[in-house]
Amino acid sequence: MTRDQRILLIIGGGVAAYKSLALIRLLARKGIKTRAILTKAGAEFVTPLSVAALTEDKVYQDLFSLTDEAEMGHIELSRQADLIVAAPATADLMAKAAQGLASDLASTALLATDKPVLMAPAMNVRMWLHPATQRNLARLKADGVRFVEPEEGPMACGEFGVGRMAEPETIAAAVEAFFSLSVTPQTLAGKRIIVTAGPTIEPLDPVRFLSNRSSGKQGYAIAESLARLGADVRLVSGPVALEAPSRVKLSLVETAREMLAACEAALPADAAVCVAAVADWRPEDPAAAKLKKDKIGAQPALALVENPDILKTLSRKGPRRPRLVIGFAAETNDVEAHAKAKIAKKGCDWIIANDVSGDVMGGDANTVMVIRGDAVDLWPPMSKTAVADRLAQAVAEALTP
Ligand code: CTP
Repeated sequence: MTRDQRILLIIGGGVAAYKSLALIRLLARKGIKTRAILTKAGAEFVTPLSVAALTEDKVYQDLFSLTDEAEMGHIELSRQADLIVAAPATADLMAKAAQGLASDLASTALLATDKPVLMAPAMNVRMWLHPATQRNLARLKADGVRFVEPEEGPMACGEFGVGRMAEPETIAAAVEAFFSLSVTPQTLAGKRIIVTAGPTIEPLDPVRFLSNRSSGKQGYAIAESLARLGADVRLVSGPVALEAPSRVKLSLVETAREMLAACEAALPADAAVCVAAVADWRPEDPAAAKLKKDKIGAQPALALVENPDILKTLSRKGPRRPRLVIGFAAETNDVEAHAKAKIAKKGCDWIIANDVSGDVMGGDANTVMVIRGDAVDLWPPMSKTAVADRLAQAVAEALTP
């Protein structure tokens, strides 16, 4: 842990505000400096004086304070932090952040920042379970906000349930975990890497399509592991039910042709990892209007044409070819022979061959064989995230001299 990590702590209005004082002390002991914004409601529960004493800094309270703005504008306030922590994050603060409102200093700082945000909600159980709060929670998560979820227990209001703010130790551990991730050696800093993931869907008409069961889990995990090593990851994904990993630039596409165009737009790149289960074929002539059963007969013919091969296209020799191109191969038998043949056919550098005779599609585990030229490594069975971490490490070794 480096010694000069800084957080901006937003203390909202809730009984749990007193726990934020303990949080400041715990973080200080770990060498993490806190600067605090105390909302108007927060100041009903803890005093600016105690916050200032613990942070050994000025406490920021007012959006329209002339002296504050002269010393440190509200934009600057969030830029100087490595992480913004809202604890307690009240229902009101979450609602404002989810809507992008900027009606006080706390919500303005949240809107004006490009820094990661961690929220520790605290509220009455009914407020927490209310569809409006749950909607805001889902929206904030989709926007990349991290959460230390509230705990179950007796509440200050006399009720029992989920809504109590997590203990300061739990929040401090989440802050520490965040910082330990960002001190991972950034061996891929400055390297752009394209990752394709998920299935493609190929329309038959405006409501029907051909696709496959790819979950996107392996590709998303690889994108995340590469980003953690500092790579500028361009994730080109077909439709999946996954959240975009943080620090990854996501392009959502549907068809193979859109996927290829998005990959080409992301060039030049240092490496490309093609994990997507691209549909090999697409309906030749998708109908502009919904096909009607009585018009197309009992046994409709399906004319298909071959889709572009993204891996093969990116592997083509030339100035725009990424230095390292990696493909995946799903095999049920003769894995090594098929994988070696695939390297030759596609022109890529490495193939990660999955043995799909078990439950790989959609599952969380994977057994892979990695073929790099003549070198063949059989990795032991491991989770898709472990495969991703190990592959990211191998990519970093290959790209750094
Ligand atoms: N791939 C691609 N574009 C396609 C088809 C495949 O980029 N149109 C990539 C996949 O992302 C993967 C590799 O090529 O990296 C898989 O090759 P493919 O020939 O599709 O392998 P299999 O699906 O295993 O095909 P086969 O039935 O020929 O074994």
